[in-house]
Amino acid sequence: DIARKLFSGKADFFWGTDSLGGLPPMHGIEIAFAGRSNVGKSSLVNALTRRKALARTSSTPGRTQELNFFRIGEGQPHAFTLVDMPGYGYAAVGKEKVAAWTELIHAYLRGRANLARVYVLIDARHGLKDNDLNVLDTLDKSAVSYQIVLTKADALKPGPLAERIRTTEQAVVRRAAAYPGVIATSSRTGDGMDALQAAIVRLLHE
Ligand code: GTP
Ligand code: MG
Repeated sequence: DIARKLFSGKADFFWGTDSLGGLPPMHGIEIAFAGRSNVGKSSLVNALTRRKALARTSSTPGRTQELNFFRIGEGQPHAFTLVDMPGYGYAAVGKEKVAAWTELIHAYLRGRANLARVYVLIDARHGLKDNDLNVLDTLDKSAVSYQIVLTKADALKPGPLAERIRTTEQAVVRRAAAYPGVIATSSRTGDGMDALQAAIVRLLHE
């Protein structure tokens, strides 16, 4: 099927930048993963593409320090660019860097014409925080389509996870640019990966 073919095909890192002036030329559509530091963005890039270390991960928040661009499915009709972002919120690298990244993240999300969807990753254990809501505000104002992905679903029992999905869906349902539905994932177990791949394939068909 299309999803399997797309995500098991080529996946290459081709660009990294920590400034808006350093973005790659726009080519095809971009899909970005945003979220607080340590939420599991880079791990999800790897799980989704079934690679061990395409994106670098770490238990220390603040690992990803640039917007990293990956070309997925090169040569296929549904090829696209996946963007792994630095985290916002706390990071072990210090306040100034986090502030600079946060500014870069908001500017990129606001102004990238070929950005087709943002997956906003939320730790299933913690739920939406104020800095997540700030990002959703930016996306709503800029009319950039986004969907919430819960990460680390393996860390919750089924009952609390179902409750987290329900409350998160409720929290975003009236927001202007929110795509309906919350996808619960675990990069550790692979849960939710098929659903996320299918969502991306649907988006690429629109
Ligand atoms: P920054 O780049 O620092 O913003 O972090 P990130 O959002 O890219 O997170 P990263 O993928 O580096 O993972 C952070 C930590 O969370 C690592 O210790 C991962 O092993 C752990 N982690 C990631 N995904 C999962 C998951 O699905 N389940 C569990 N239990 N841990 C996870
Ligand atoms: Mg990262």
